[in-house]
Amino acid sequence: SIIKKYKFDIQMKNVSRLCHAKPIVTVNGRYPGPTVYAREGDRVQVTVTNHVQYNLSIHWHGLKQHRNGWADGPAYITQCPIQTGSSYTYDFNVTGQRGTLWWHAHILWLRVTVHGAIVIMPKLGTPFPFPQPAREFEILLGEWWNNDVEEIEKQGTQRGLAPNISDAHTINGKPGPLFPCSEKHTYAMEVEQGKSYLLRIINAALNDELFFAIAGHNMTVVEVDAVYTKPFTTNSIIIGPGQTTNVLVHANNAPCRYFMAARTFEDVPLTVDNKTATAILQYKGVPNTVIPSLPKLPAINDSAFVLSYNKKLRSLNSDKYPANVPLKVDRNLFYTIGLGMNPCPTCVNGTRLVASLNNVSFVLPQTALLQAHYFNLKGVFSTDFPDRPSKPFNYTGAPLKANLATLKGTRLSKIAFNSTVELVLQDTNLLTVESHPFHLHGYNFFVVGTGIGNFNASKDPANYNLVDPIERNTVGVPTGGWVAIRFRADNPGVWFMHCHLELHTGWGLKMAFVVEDGPEKHQSVLPPPKDLPKC
Ligand code: C2O
Repeated sequence: SIIKKYKFDIQMKNVSRLCHAKPIVTVNGRYPGPTVYAREGDRVQVTVTNHVQYNLSIHWHGLKQHRNGWADGPAYITQCPIQTGSSYTYDFNVTGQRGTLWWHAHILWLRVTVHGAIVIMPKLGTPFPFPQPAREFEILLGEWWNNDVEEIEKQGTQRGLAPNISDAHTINGKPGPLFPCSEKHTYAMEVEQGKSYLLRIINAALNDELFFAIAGHNMTVVEVDAVYTKPFTTNSIIIGPGQTTNVLVHANNAPCRYFMAARTFEDVPLTVDNKTATAILQYKGVPNTVIPSLPKLPAINDSAFVLSYNKKLRSLNSDKYPANVPLKVDRNLFYTIGLGMNPCPTCVNGTRLVASLNNVSFVLPQTALLQAHYFNLKGVFSTDFPDRPSKPFNYTGAPLKANLATLKGTRLSKIAFNSTVELVLQDTNLLTVESHPFHLHGYNFFVVGTGIGNFNASKDPANYNLVDPIERNTVGVPTGGWVAIRFRADNPGVWFMHCHLELHTGWGLKMAFVVEDGPEKHQSVLPPPKDLPKC
């Protein structure tokens, strides 16, 4: 196979945005970082060398890493972080996947600036299942803080406060001309009238789900999370942190300049939104002096749009790209998502914000879970993560303020090799309801059902879509509602699952599965690479 080699030097770089200059953590001095290009079937080797004061690791979000969790990257889950002054080579095969994914730092909040696109082209000679675009563009949506992000992370994670929100959203690292000092920090994309373009859109923001739209142009959604979809046309998309969406855009309007814009979706808005990022879709030959118009985006709290958009997402389920949805379930899991307040004698108000799954707030261990699993080290984790809450309650009823009993633990759920799993993720109103983009490492899953209110195990499964449900790696659990996902546990190892809002992850909204080895050859975790970092 072909080996694609990359060198990632983690280094500080002075960057200015919104009239503020500060040093940020980058890969090779670039913000956003370089794109990793590969073709389905390639082997990729990325040598990461850490020249900054933070220990860190890089995650290849959405790559399945079959039997090869060593290259997955979440710190303390599959590896110890790469220490200052050290290197580690992520070595993995890209098998059975093609499309847009992304990579990002997977420790603290460093992914705010340490991230980039992964573009996997189909095998040579295999066309896209949609008309070939004239050109492709990568569109990374992100967030910019004027202040030091790691200080803000500490307020949120260590002190349990709700920390400051970011100062601007960004498109390819640039906030656009609506912000001060930002005329020169505006991304522009040039198109020719009559041609079609593929936009590979990635939400790399830390804490915001985003709407995205282009003035004067519809978008045809053709892929999410590196899985082809049945195409559908829309004037806006909703994209959660961790998710990717490929759209085709036909440059069929009058030659002009048009704004594209990204703005927060927040179903219960807590703050005034003044963070909208803009960039420019520019027809060839149109002078830069033409003032573009803004697209119409859904209202900040338009959860009806979000529900109906997500219902339109369907797998292609064609002969060439079948949807192999597990029809029979071996293991039923039901996890509640809770935000709550725990007592904290050393905190400012005597309480701190926490988050939990089935009332367990996950604690990262001191050594990596995958190593502990592989080498059978005792005392690092237990495998008693509850399959369901100990006591059912009215999950989405009146707020059960101050959930003072949240447990802490490094508790994993053990899954038998090749068993089929159904997991219902249920949002709750312990403190407040909120929507959560949930990401599973090591797998794609099928989103077989979703609804508002409490999941009803005797009624809701009758309405599941087991024919062409969307397959993805990150799914939005709706505010005060639930989603049901299914996957076949055919990838042995330790796999992290968490809310992709960094604030919630930091408060404990995460857990891990340990998928056992199978009995046969090629069904067990591969041996660790020699340069695997030590804790
Ligand atoms: Cu994109 Cu565990 O993350």
